[in-house]
Amino acid sequence: MKNKVKELLEQVEKFTSESIERVEEFRIKMLGKKGEITQLFEDFKTFTAEQKRETGKDLNELKTKTLDKINEFKDLLANTQAQTNNTFDMTMPATNEPLGSRHPISIMKNKIIDIFKRLGYTIAEGPEIEDDWHVFSALNFPPEHPARDMQDTFFIETNPDILLRTHTSSIQVRAMEQTKPPIRIICPGRVFRNEAISARSHCIFHQIEGLYIDENVSFADMKQTLLYFAQEMFGKDTQIRLRPSYFPFTEPSAEMDVSCKICGGKGCNICKGTGWLEIMGCGMVDPNVLENNGIDSKKYTGFAFGMGIERTSMLKWQTKDLRLYFENDIRFLRQFSAVV
Ligand code: DAH
Repeated sequence: MKNKVKELLEQVEKFTSESIERVEEFRIKMLGKKGEITQLFEDFKTFTAEQKRETGKDLNELKTKTLDKINEFKDLLANTQAQTNNTFDMTMPATNEPLGSRHPISIMKNKIIDIFKRLGYTIAEGPEIEDDWHVFSALNFPPEHPARDMQDTFFIETNPDILLRTHTSSIQVRAMEQTKPPIRIICPGRVFRNEAISARSHCIFHQIEGLYIDENVSFADMKQTLLYFAQEMFGKDTQIRLRPSYFPFTEPSAEMDVSCKICGGKGCNICKGTGWLEIMGCGMVDPNVLENNGIDSKKYTGFAFGMGIERTSMLKWQTKDLRLYFENDIRFLRQFSAVV
């Protein structure tokens, strides 16, 4: 028996095969019903206890090694067969996965932020659901101001103290509450107004607010900052014009226009013949607003400005209808895929 086991073990160790059929033949020869190893196990049954002890371990080892060998070759040959059956053409050009791109409002928001970041501004944000104090009262709106009217403002439930912010100026107030001057922030956000939807207005849109408060901040600082912004956004030869205006939270207040890029200031249908396009509101922060927020108006001054992101995008990319920014028509959005 011992010699037979040794001889079969050698055969197993030497065994190689390139075909799955040969492996199966080998299995039958060794372990089939009349296989050589099976036969040895039959003989084993007739052994005395002494003989069993002498050969049992070797016989078991022979069986495991044979099974391992057979499985090893089965796996190997199954894999190579799968590879030859594989008809995938590795040289074929890949199919293009359609790539999304940023929404033009996000692109414009990032452009504006980038410009002000270079001037040292950091980003501040605030909640969309606000209270009267942050949207109106702290910003010096008199109680009877029309902006507080139901016609313009969306109130939450029946509580007139809670509302959807109508402008991002509310973030100014939150910033003044939370930090001491110097404050230099840019505040992007979504705002809500109870307005009919048309080519020029929407009930939801986006604004960016800017605020700079420090000692000795002057109107000249504001003018230079906004000129820099206009030239970075619309081109180096862009000019700006400040027209006197009124906002409760700034004094003096102004409306800023940029020279019309289309006609170079000569007058065209985009600028309605004036050569100028209105882009934002701005002004020196009213001392009442500083005091409302615990900032000493004798020591500190500041300027603020606010612009619509949709409006700035419409001017930059000559979009004729504001609603395009909300409809998400892929043919419109795709035009911005190369703009960064
Ligand atoms: N909050 C104003 C609006 O929604 C925009 C604005 C004007 C913001 C003048 C300012 C500012 O900070 O100084 O129309």
